[in-house]
Amino acid sequence: MAFRIQLLDTAQCFEAAPGESVLDAALRHELRLPHECCFGSCATCRIKLVEGSVRYDDFPPGLTPEEAAEGYALACQARPASDLVISSARRLPPCSEPARHLATVTALRPLGDDVLHLSLEVPPEAELLYRPGQYINILLPDGGHRSFSMASRPHPQALDFHIRRIPEGRFTSGHAARLKPGDRLPVELPHGSFCFHAEDYRPLLMVATGTGLAPIKSILESLMDDEDCPPVSLYWGMRTEADLYLHDEIQGWADRLCDFRYVPVLSRADAGWTGRRGHVQQAVAEDFEDLSEHAIYLCGAPAMIGDAKRVFLTRNASVDHLYCDSFTFQSTATA
Ligand SMILES: Cc1cc2nc3c(=O)[nH]c(=O)nc-3n(C[C@H](O)[C@H](O)[C@H](O)COP(=O)(O)OP(=O)(O)OC[C@H]3O[C@@H](n4cnc5c(N)ncnc54)[C@H](O)[C@@H]3O)c2cc1C
Ligand code: FES
Repeated sequence: MAFRIQLLDTAQCFEAAPGESVLDAALRHELRLPHECCFGSCATCRIKLVEGSVRYDDFPPGLTPEEAAEGYALACQARPASDLVISSARRLPPCSEPARHLATVTALRPLGDDVLHLSLEVPPEAELLYRPGQYINILLPDGGHRSFSMASRPHPQALDFHIRRIPEGRFTSGHAARLKPGDRLPVELPHGSFCFHAEDYRPLLMVATGTGLAPIKSILESLMDDEDCPPVSLYWGMRTEADLYLHDEIQGWADRLCDFRYVPVLSRADAGWTGRRGHVQQAVAEDFEDLSEHAIYLCGAPAMIGDAKRVFLTRNASVDHLYCDSFTFQSTATA
């Protein structure tokens, strides 16, 4: 049976064919709902069900049962079970539409054993405008792409990235390993709805694993020396001390951010490590009895994000103040 869907924010209406997802139906009617992975992991397509109900073939990993109970759904996986009124009101309007450019590699240097610092420059006429936290798609010859978050405060031409080498990864172990200054890369940007929500004026709790630090660094750099910067706690999860590729630099951020607290957490620390051990989300849960007053930003491995959401909601975190940037794998998405 076909169902009617109304977008509360714009009053637009469209129809979903039997068994069609909310996102597919919207796109078929040329309505652009935000989306990225399209397989239920990144939660970019999260909507609020104002009226009606949906069903899933498989409950998506990017949604917690608690979020579903509060009326949230993932449009790419949700199939209407009745007529719907939906809202995606929390999203900020894009500051510019994605555009393609030919970028030039300006620098490459290792950041620790398996992270590469890649610097790119786009032509001046590109006049890049993007929000800290957004990402680029590096376009591959076969028509695929790989996504990487901008790792420094926005700049009209210069872009920085922290690229973790994935064993046998096509781009990170193949193409990226052969790049040299002067090489050209086709790219498309800006993408992504993950960014700083200045309207959410609460103490910031930033939680990252691995190169999930990159979009957080971009956000925090844009808040440096800003008298409106809220208090910031940064928890960074890595395996070993050697993996903490920006440890010294981060410690220096305390001079330029408000009430900055930095907690590295290692899951496979050796005996000499005197800091926190375990999983980063558990360290946060140990330190905060109540998260109801925080704006929480989660970046990195999808498994950490899923688990952190579940744990933090038991500490009274508000679903409306949780912002996630899930580093899903594009090869999976393509498959
Ligand atoms: C919005 C967004 C932003 C991102 N930002 C960054 C960033 O700033 N820095 C960064 O390092 N990565 C980032 N990623 C992740 C990165 O895009 C993927 O790791 C990418 O797929 C790697 O490409 P590849 O061609 O080297 O590996 P692929 O050839 O795509 O993958 C080879 C195999 O390795 C596995 N794999 C791929 N990626 C990962 C991973 N991250 N962890 C574990 N296993 C993996 C998969 O099973 C895959 O089949 C981001 C992803 C998204 C969606
Ligand atoms: S687009 Fe729906 S979860 Fe990623």
